[in-house]
Amino acid sequence: QSPNFEVIPVINSTNQYLLERVQSLPVGFACIAEYQQAGRGRRGRQWYSPFGSNLYLSIYWRLEQGPAAASGLSLVIGIVIAKVLRELSGQDIRVKWPNDLYLNDKKLAGILVEITGKTGDVAHVVMGVGINLSMHNPNQDIVNQAWSNLGNIDRNQLVAELLSYLRQALINFEKEGLTAFLSQWSPIDNFANRSVKLIIGDTLIKGIARGINEQGALLLEQDGQITPYIGGEISLRAD
Ligand code: ATP
Ligand code: BTN
Repeated sequence: QSPNFEVIPVINSTNQYLLERVQSLPVGFACIAEYQQAGRGRRGRQWYSPFGSNLYLSIYWRLEQGPAAASGLSLVIGIVIAKVLRELSGQDIRVKWPNDLYLNDKKLAGILVEITGKTGDVAHVVMGVGINLSMHNPNQDIVNQAWSNLGNIDRNQLVAELLSYLRQALINFEKEGLTAFLSQWSPIDNFANRSVKLIIGDTLIKGIARGINEQGALLLEQDGQITPYIGGEISLRAD
């Protein structure tokens, strides 16, 4: 059997590396790096990726039902990673809609799901996660919000557990979708029942976060009314 992951010391981006190879990768293949020269976040933002101190991991999956089937996937990945990190560290790691993990109200990790493939065709999905372990003095031009570190942890064990739990969760997600994971979100939701603001382009919307629905939309309460918000252009912040 060929190995199902690759460790590369220096790379532009582990997501980019897998995306360039989707035609020849086995499902579940993963890539880990020590340093990313062009680590990326959502919407062209950068992910600060210094040498050695953090974890940069991407995993490849194929969704036979096409790109639409990936809806809610970043939430599932967040739930699974939070679970693994909580077990290994004993710390109160929480999820932030739609793609971050928080520790002590600060950003600990980010998830980036990238998809190629046309509607109706098979979707090639690359899911990347960057987790801060022992980062010092990050470049403040790039990390321009509060951040945290997980601290001392066995990286080999962390990678082994992440890959095993993620692969299992992806099999379940393909069968049952987000529904199978929904009940695991609210107990670890960093912003549940807190005053928040949503930033959508130039628009600011204030309300109380009330968890997520079956579609993975954020539920926002305003004047006693609950509205679902979904889509990649939304940023959630404490108010
Ligand atoms: P949102 O995801 O809510 O839209 P975001 O500001 O977290 O907002 P992302 O694109 O998810 O945006 O993440 C990129 C941002 O994360 C960067 O703009 C930067 O502020 C922050 N960031 C970059 N590198 C790191 C890092 N290693 N640790 C913590 N935060 C980082
Ligand atoms: C975000 O918060 O916007 C997501 C950040 C995702 C960072 C990880 S690090 C491994 C993988 N490779 C990348 O270039 N990005 C993701």
